[in-house]
Amino acid sequence: MRAGDEGAPLAALAAASGLRDWTLAGRTLLPVVQGGMGVGVSAGGLAGTVAGLGAVGTVSSVDLRRLHPDLWAQTSHREAEPDAGARIDAANLEALGREIARAKQISGGRGLVAVNVMKALSAYEAQVRHALACGADALVVGAGLPLDLPELAREHPSVALIPILSDARGIQLIVRKWEKKGRLPDAIVVEHPRLAGGHLGAARVADLHDPRFDFEVVLPQALAFFRSEGLEGRIPLIAAGGVGSLEDIRRLQSLGASAVQLGTAFAVTRECDADPAFKRVLAEARPEDIVEFTSVAGLPARAVRTPWLARYLRLEPRLQAKTHHETACTMRFDCLARCGLRDATPGWGKFCIDKMLGHALAGGIDQGLFFRGAGRLPFGSEIRTVKELMQWLLGGLRPSALVPRVGQGLESQWAEHDRRIENMPMKEEQRVPGT
Ligand SMILES: Cc1cc2nc3c(=O)[nH]c(=O)nc-3n(C[C@H](O)[C@H](O)[C@H](O)COP(=O)(O)O)c2cc1C
Ligand code: SF4
Repeated sequence: MRAGDEGAPLAALAAASGLRDWTLAGRTLLPVVQGGMGVGVSAGGLAGTVAGLGAVGTVSSVDLRRLHPDLWAQTSHREAEPDAGARIDAANLEALGREIARAKQISGGRGLVAVNVMKALSAYEAQVRHALACGADALVVGAGLPLDLPELAREHPSVALIPILSDARGIQLIVRKWEKKGRLPDAIVVEHPRLAGGHLGAARVADLHDPRFDFEVVLPQALAFFRSEGLEGRIPLIAAGGVGSLEDIRRLQSLGASAVQLGTAFAVTRECDADPAFKRVLAEARPEDIVEFTSVAGLPARAVRTPWLARYLRLEPRLQAKTHHETACTMRFDCLARCGLRDATPGWGKFCIDKMLGHALAGGIDQGLFFRGAGRLPFGSEIRTVKELMQWLLGGLRPSALVPRVGQGLESQWAEHDRRIENMPMKEEQRVPGT
């Protein structure tokens, strides 16, 4: 980190706390990654702020036209027009380019600006190519195995390629397949399905608590695999899910992670690109409000049980029992390559995820789907700045106004929740509340 950089005091704080920095795409970085969050939750504003402090900020590529009134006006409520899908895709590429430029401008060349593209998207390939053309420093891909990423990025050898995986088997598979294509992952996000928010890397809701996903299992297994392949020290691991303190980062670095990735804690910062009501729903959720269910993308997901989600979960058994037939996408968007609603896939979610995440982004508390991780938040229900969050994570510095509130209200409910999680039998089957 250069002298005079905004992130320099944070680097000193991290070093004094005994944390290691790490290197990605030739840059020395703070060991914190802000995870990609769609729809529109992590755009240029949040990602640029995080990168500007010397860490990794991630723009999520999904449906970014929603943040641009001109692009939204050109494409919404035009489902009847024959070229609606193509126009939406073009607007989203335009918005992605604008958000990458915004992130880079805010970061001032510090840290690293990544773009997260979900493999499950219909526009995955087009968005990967566009992110590369627009100067993304790294591409982070989850919600499916990105076996084709090395080919797609062949002309961009300096862009870091980062798959998101959950267990050692997935890590071995992707490393071996990519090695045959002459490329190694520049880092791997290891996301814990029992803790993270959004779509989760397990086959079924009942698998989320499988001990094979525990960091204490996956990280040593991955490191042993790298050693056996002669790849020791070449692929940094980024642990994601439930991270909320300096102690967590120390523990994960001692297990072999180079950095940690946080989603929910960044989603409730002042700089997050979503509506303030979105942040309040996440920050004010109690442990019992957080539920797991099967998304329309066929993956388990974790979110806050808001009025819409409670209604959906009550109705889900009936929706699943109905004999559905494939239909056209009601939005003429076809955001997902495979959609449980449009394709009538048995057992997959039966709602339009783009519409529901769009409502949440805009602060629609009654209609929205609000993804959230399972862990407690560092500042309880407070909305604080990215810088305060980083100071807490890297140095254990708590904003002073928060001190008297610790131990009250939500804080004590979360402390009780943490105690229960610690004592939970590992293999307990999870039932989705409301079904
Ligand atoms: C609101 C929200 C939206 C998310 N959307 C995405 C996404 O679009 N793509 C993705 O790879 N991960 C997504 N995630 C996962 C985060 O990037 C991150 O890995 C995860 O939330 C870490 O767990 P934590 O929330 O406990 O910190 C999302 C998480 C949240 C809370
Ligand atoms: S119906 Fe399915 S494919 Fe169409 S926009 Fe909604 S979630 Fe996406």
